[in-house]
Amino acid sequence: MTYLDNAATTFPKPEAVYQAIDKCMRHYAGNQGRSGHRLSMQASREVYETRELLAKLFNIQNPLRIVFTENGTEALNLGLKGVLEPGDHVVTSSMEHNSVYRPLNALAEKGITFSIVLCSPDGCLDIEAFTAALQQNTKMVILNHASNVTGEMLPIREVGEICAKKGILFMVDAAQTAGILDIDVQDLKIDLLAAPGHKGLFGPQGTGFLYIGEGLDLKPLKEGGTGSRSEDVFQPLMMPDRYESGTLNAPGIIGLGAGIKFLQQETLQKIRAHDEKLRHYFIEALSQIETVRLYGAGALISVVSLNIEGLDSTETAYLLDREYDIFVRPGLHCAPLTHRTLGTLDTGTVRFSFSYFNTEDEVQQSVSAIQKICLQKRDAG
Ligand SMILES: Cc1ncc(COP(=O)(O)O)c(C=O)c1O
Repeated sequence: MTYLDNAATTFPKPEAVYQAIDKCMRHYAGNQGRSGHRLSMQASREVYETRELLAKLFNIQNPLRIVFTENGTEALNLGLKGVLEPGDHVVTSSMEHNSVYRPLNALAEKGITFSIVLCSPDGCLDIEAFTAALQQNTKMVILNHASNVTGEMLPIREVGEICAKKGILFMVDAAQTAGILDIDVQDLKIDLLAAPGHKGLFGPQGTGFLYIGEGLDLKPLKEGGTGSRSEDVFQPLMMPDRYESGTLNAPGIIGLGAGIKFLQQETLQKIRAHDEKLRHYFIEALSQIETVRLYGAGALISVVSLNIEGLDSTETAYLLDREYDIFVRPGLHCAPLTHRTLGTLDTGTVRFSFSYFNTEDEVQQSVSAIQKICLQKRDAG
């Protein structure tokens, strides 16, 4: 079996992640932040350790500015809905995920407007076009760090500089880059950083986080029990309780902590070098096949989209699954405007996404499977 759908969620996870979750579930899964007994205290300490690990990884000065969420989508929703008010304007790009467009469209019904800067057919954002989209009432810019369809990176450093100069909030969707690329929120002038825990950070599903920059006060998405200020029937204002109502996914968050420790041990540099080797080999081999069309082959992260001439992306993925035991994702990848940009809205693309646990052998097998599918298609006329 070859799993090449790591952009959806990484699988497998490092052994230490399974062990950390198992240990928590069996030995100390008291409700963190609640009862004050030793099991609850241990869970609280371990959850806090994950906050500290995230803070260190992204150069966040105060770990309490990190809010745990269920996934990347919830983090993006909190960042957008927590900040924006009727009359505000937002600028984004045509390379975003639906977990940005859908909340923005829901907000549009409440009087928030947004502009989508169209990227070039290979997925690049033009800084002049971006600057031209800014308005007097632009409150926020939200950008994908790297596309989940092509892996193409957006120029977040330049955009962060422009936003900082103009006093515009800058939110980054790091779903495809957290745990792979270096992200320093100070250096990149990021006010809000949203990411899932279950992709490059190697946590389990059900984890994600939003970093909320110092001094920002967002409306919470939900209110409820926090274990703090129980005498108060209003939502506490303290961080991170203001945004973390209800029992947290402590085993998942602790597993996420183990994932980050794994990244620290291996180093992001080594992980990137491994990914780069696989991606390079894959792209080089596929560029030789006439009937394979590659999209965004210039990316830095290991997300590669392609199509085989005459085959719908779902047919290709089906053949890879049934005949070759290779698991990839076909279709639009929750990013319809990216496909409009690439010209693949009708066919979608077949997305191959590698992780640190994939081997050169697996990539070779995938290349050979694609070669065979292309030959079959050619012979079938
Ligand atoms: C670019 C991007 N943003 C946001 C998300 C949403 O993350 P989640 O699935 O954790 O909600 C994804 C997931 O694939 C993504 O690729």
